[in-house]
Amino acid sequence: MKTTIKNIREIGLLSTVLLFSAFVWFSCNKENTEKGYTVEKLREIYSDEPSNWPAPNVDADIDWKEIAPVPPSPYKGVDSLQPLIELGKVLFFDPRLSSSGQISCSSCHDPQLSWSNGRTVGVGHDHQLGQRNTPSLFYSWATTPLFWDGRAGTLEQQALEPVANPLEMHQGLHLLPAKIEKIKGYQPYFEKAFGDEVVTVDRIASALAYFQRTLEGRESKLDKFLKGDKEALSDDALKGLHLFRTKARCINCHNGPFLTDNKFHNLGLHYYGRKYEDLGRYLVTKDTADVGRFKTPTLREVMRTGPWMHNGLFPSMDGIMNMYDHGMARPKPRPEFEDDPLFPKTSDILKPLGLTPQEKKELIAFLESMTTHIYRMPRPEMPSAEGNNVAQQ
Ligand code: HEC
Ligand code: HEC
Repeated sequence: MKTTIKNIREIGLLSTVLLFSAFVWFSCNKENTEKGYTVEKLREIYSDEPSNWPAPNVDADIDWKEIAPVPPSPYKGVDSLQPLIELGKVLFFDPRLSSSGQISCSSCHDPQLSWSNGRTVGVGHDHQLGQRNTPSLFYSWATTPLFWDGRAGTLEQQALEPVANPLEMHQGLHLLPAKIEKIKGYQPYFEKAFGDEVVTVDRIASALAYFQRTLEGRESKLDKFLKGDKEALSDDALKGLHLFRTKARCINCHNGPFLTDNKFHNLGLHYYGRKYEDLGRYLVTKDTADVGRFKTPTLREVMRTGPWMHNGLFPSMDGIMNMYDHGMARPKPRPEFEDDPLFPKTSDILKPLGLTPQEKKELIAFLESMTTHIYRMPRPEMPSAEGNNVAQQ
């Protein structure tokens, strides 16, 4: 009898041990498939055609594009556009476009600061603060509509808004053409670009727009990798690329060569009913679904364009990774807003991700891989009031 009981006990113990080992084996295996591939395997997979890459973790209704090398600006180097681009460059750097004569486009969009300025919000006329963070202008030819709420469809439509904006350059547009026409040094620029020296608001907008269409970064490590240089990405950046497309789900919105869908999403950063409230896309469309939605920004050059987000309230990329890991912000309405039909809802695309600290580091390494060197563009010589020829004598 005793022996039998002992045997039964032993059998019980043995099966517990077996069950436990099976569990350990199963969970390790599960972890392996979830963690995916070794870095060598990832390098092999991602060096192949994108059509052979692992399927991305994209929701069913999403229209997405694969990550791809950035195409060159189709406007740069086109001979017939050069005079227009050169005029636009001078106008972009000229503070005489502002009423005070102190602020140019480049005051806020500084080439050396990746065409942004490192501040939470822009500082404009009379040192007044704007409400939004200054976007970089890199690739603005491809990332339309423009502004965080998409209110400008083209760079032409966009160009004159900051000139007229009382918080930015505060310059009455009806007075601008006569003011520029008086600066004799501009005559040859307008002649070359348009055939005569007449200055109009539309001509100024067109020149500014074409200049901005030429702004692009240098070739990034990511682009080198995508074009076949297998070693261009570090191990961390490579793992970050895979995470970006799969577990971290970033590719749902940041996709294609410019890492943006050019669409509007609600990340829960609208501060509805609070001091920093910004209703975003709703201000343009008046569609309640758009309350608190902002445009997905390009992530090219992103490591140099902080502080981040439409309000510039996020100074740390680690902090941004932690927020995405939590599924972003899901603010609950305070009692007075409970029945408010406008109370914004955070996008369902955002979910808790379960990222490890190492994975967050890898995502940041991937963002580093699409950020290139500091870009220096010397300020062009400003046309003189008496005309360039006079000035040169
Ligand atoms: C006082 C600072 C300031 C000045 C001066 C300024 N900007 Fe901006 N710019 C901003 C801010 C802030 C935004 C974002 C505003 C928004 O989204 O509502 C912006 C947005 C833009 C955008 C849209 C970029 C995108 O990706 O959506 C373009 C293009 C642009 N500015 C070009 C210009 C030009 C051209 C000038 C000169 C005529 C100029 N800016 C002058 C601060 C400034
Ligand atoms: C639901 C769409 C969506 C998803 C998914 C998404 N983003 Fe974003 N991302 C946005 C939008 C929209 C903004 C701007 C929001 C704002 O300013 O209110 C943004 C802003 C950012 C910024 C700040 C850029 C700047 O110039 O200020 C970074 C960095 C960023 N996202 C990285 C990521 C990473 C990494 C992931 C994946 C973990 C990710 N995003 C997933 C839509 C998305």
